[in-house]
Amino acid sequence: MRSYKAKMVEPIELPSREEREAAIEEAGYNVFNLDARDVYIDLLTDSGTGTMSADQWAAMIRGDEAYAGSRSFNNLADAVRDVMGFEYVVPTHQGRGAENVLYGVLLEEGDVIPNNSHFDTTRAHIVNQGAEPVDCPSPASRDPNSNESFKGNFDIDAGYALVEEVGADSIPVVVLTITNNSVAGQPVSMANIRATAEFARDIDAMFVIDACRFAENAHFIKQHEAGYEDTSVAEIAREQFEHADAITMSGKKDALVNIGGFTAMRDETVFEHAKQRAILFEGFPTYGGLSGRDIEAMAVGLREAVTPPYVHERVEQVGELGDMLSERDVPVYLPTGGHAVYLDAGEIFSHIPKEHFPGQVLVCALYREGGVRGVELGEFAFPGAERPDLVRLALPRRTYSREHLEHIAETAEEVMESAHEYDGLEIVEEPPMKELRHFSAKLEPVSE
Ligand code: F0G
Repeated sequence: MRSYKAKMVEPIELPSREEREAAIEEAGYNVFNLDARDVYIDLLTDSGTGTMSADQWAAMIRGDEAYAGSRSFNNLADAVRDVMGFEYVVPTHQGRGAENVLYGVLLEEGDVIPNNSHFDTTRAHIVNQGAEPVDCPSPASRDPNSNESFKGNFDIDAGYALVEEVGADSIPVVVLTITNNSVAGQPVSMANIRATAEFARDIDAMFVIDACRFAENAHFIKQHEAGYEDTSVAEIAREQFEHADAITMSGKKDALVNIGGFTAMRDETVFEHAKQRAILFEGFPTYGGLSGRDIEAMAVGLREAVTPPYVHERVEQVGELGDMLSERDVPVYLPTGGHAVYLDAGEIFSHIPKEHFPGQVLVCALYREGGVRGVELGEFAFPGAERPDLVRLALPRRTYSREHLEHIAETAEEVMESAHEYDGLEIVEEPPMKELRHFSAKLEPVSE
């Protein structure tokens, strides 16, 4: 059961099979090149694609568009203080804007930055400062079939091994991404948040949380971590941040908006420096590249994200899709994460070698069979990373119904049944930066 009803609807249409086949060929077998109107169910991302509440829309009308010192900024600052417990906030146009502002202030050339797993924009911003990002995912994350609860954790031993290798002086910041998007949306336990904070303190580093999906993470702690059963998601959410010096936030996830982000911190000097950098890259520090109405909607969304039953239903719906797929023997990464279900394309297309992109084959097959758009997170997106060939089906928040989930699961089942008929793909056109190739490269079925 859902605790909301639709107030506004947007028509979607499943193009005919012929149209889908023509569209994917025209797109060079890359779903980033598809027109959204040719997609029936869009699971490309959960970022900025969700449905806002009536309260958020009402707040947009109240948006104060003053260039400096707008009322909407004060409302956001109050929400960040109440929900997350940070004194200082700098709004930015989205999460990567926050990364640019904060890491531009904190990092220097030659620094080394550990994180349970860097999201790609975080990695890129750290590299852009001349620093080196290092992933320290929990060893449990490597087994897609174990049902452990907190596979998103930071591997503290790997953190200390890195200190041994490069020296504590090279590590000014330790980052923790909750939930861990690069590891199948898996959550991080409160015990691990505490341990990572202690590790950072021990080596005299700042502790930064990438907070994009903080409410979903808090939900998992409530569900699965001993001692938190009777604590509210709002209280857990705040406790997560008690241990952090600063955060970067993409409002497009757990602030339930279509655009927006911010960085927040406790230290006044860091705040002052962040504001100066924000002026350079984002805008005056009370609007940060956003309109007042965007900020207003983000302030309301941040509070909604920790108000029951929102996040419970949200994560439960993702789990429901995971269950529907598992019941049809589609191999999914277990347990289901907070914002997406991750399919193991390497297993579905075991006859297709990694260099012919089984993940991308699956993405194209899901589109061709059912107009469903997911995203590849394997060899195509991360060349040479030796990652499993996963495909992410990210659910926009408060958007699709059970019938849509059934269509997705049936589509995947149909693909499974004809898996042996699919050939691999090869790249025929790609942009100069290999790291960004999955956004625009064109492919073709291998001709053998
Ligand atoms: N950090 C994490 C963990 C993210 O998942 C994202 C975005 C960002 C930072 C950057 O935020 O997009 O607002 O600039 N993830 C989206 C995704 C794009 O599809 O997972 P942004």
